[in-house]
Amino acid sequence: MSNLVIGVPREAAGAERRVALVPSIIETLVQDGFRILVERSAGQAAGYSDEAYRAVGAELAEDAAATYAGATLIARVAPPDGDELALMTPAHTLIAFLDPLGNVARAERLAATGATTFAFEFMPRTTRAQAMDALSSQATVAGYHGVLLAADRAPRLFPLLMTAAGTVKARSVLVLGAGVAGLQAIATARRLGAVVTAFDVRAAVKEQVESLGARFLAIDVAGEEQAGGYATGLDQEQHRLEQEALARACADADIVICTAQIPGARAPELITEAAVRSMRRGSVIVDLAASAGGNCACTVAGEEVDIEGVLVLGPSNPAAAIPGTASDLYAANVRAFVRLIAPGAELAPDWDDEIVAGALITRGGVVVAARVVERLAATGGAA
Ligand code: NAI
Repeated sequence: MSNLVIGVPREAAGAERRVALVPSIIETLVQDGFRILVERSAGQAAGYSDEAYRAVGAELAEDAAATYAGATLIARVAPPDGDELALMTPAHTLIAFLDPLGNVARAERLAATGATTFAFEFMPRTTRAQAMDALSSQATVAGYHGVLLAADRAPRLFPLLMTAAGTVKARSVLVLGAGVAGLQAIATARRLGAVVTAFDVRAAVKEQVESLGARFLAIDVAGEEQAGGYATGLDQEQHRLEQEALARACADADIVICTAQIPGARAPELITEAAVRSMRRGSVIVDLAASAGGNCACTVAGEEVDIEGVLVLGPSNPAAAIPGTASDLYAANVRAFVRLIAPGAELAPDWDDEIVAGALITRGGVVVAARVVERLAATGGAA
């Protein structure tokens, strides 16, 4: 039997309630021949007890130090913090969200440990990598949560209701960005009975938006699509045109769900403060792009802002708000990647494989991901 041990540390970050591996996935990894070492209470916030882990064959570690000392492959959700970085050695391989372009200084600190690190953010978005696409799995949860958050805070019901006490009008929801999170937000808002309008710079998504029963907003701006389906930034004039058109659309909306992002860059500012001020009192904006700078000028990540009766919510880690499902899906993504780099439960990554090469951030004491190296050179490592 293989000796390869996968360690699952408890997430230290305050608002992180997810866990990298869950019992049902561990059961299958144990069948593959892996040994699994889970730090005590690692799954608690996601609804998984230590006993549930033990029941599927995982061993428990007392603390992070014991987890790192006993494991070679480390599976995390958020990047390790300072204390954990001190536990990492050249013998470790880490897979997690590492925000490699948002925090290049961290990539350097990871490199300094000598460990091999892989970031989910850099997985190529190819059909073969779909099972490992944690950005998509977590965006799905975030999109759903964003709508529930808005519904919970809005002063009015979403669906059209004919009651003996009178008719309740359906609410109008505007979804900005119709990628993975946006499409899930549209579907969730529709299920709650709202009338939904959506916009994305990628014209190709119009059909998907309409197939979910929403209207695609006609704005005469169109962004380029990169390989893998991502959007590129708009030029200044197009950006201004979009802001103007969205200001009109916001004035008509009761709820706005923002999901627009440009990978590796600040999220585009789509809703100006003037547009927020033009909205009706009681309107709610949920900015799911908050941690990337936000789509709304009034967004403060992790906070709620009240602008003349319009509530602007900036959840900084929306997927973690539904930690059970988010962890289940994330764990399946981790398993798919682990099976790729450790076939037969032996660590043997094929460095020429485009998924392995694409996700690799650090190896042998240096940052190897070209995009991170470029950004480090541009910022002098200060970002
Ligand atoms: P994302 O989180 O980077 O961005 C969300 C959405 O914001 C995107 O649809 C983007 O076009 C949109 N956006 C950017 N700037 C905007 C602006 N100024 N105004 C309005 N919208 C704007 O992207 P996400 O959701 O992670 O993925 C986007 C697309 O990537 C997917 O819809 C799909 O086409 C492709 N994809 C492909 C996969 C595969 O082939 N395996 C897997 C996942 C995604």
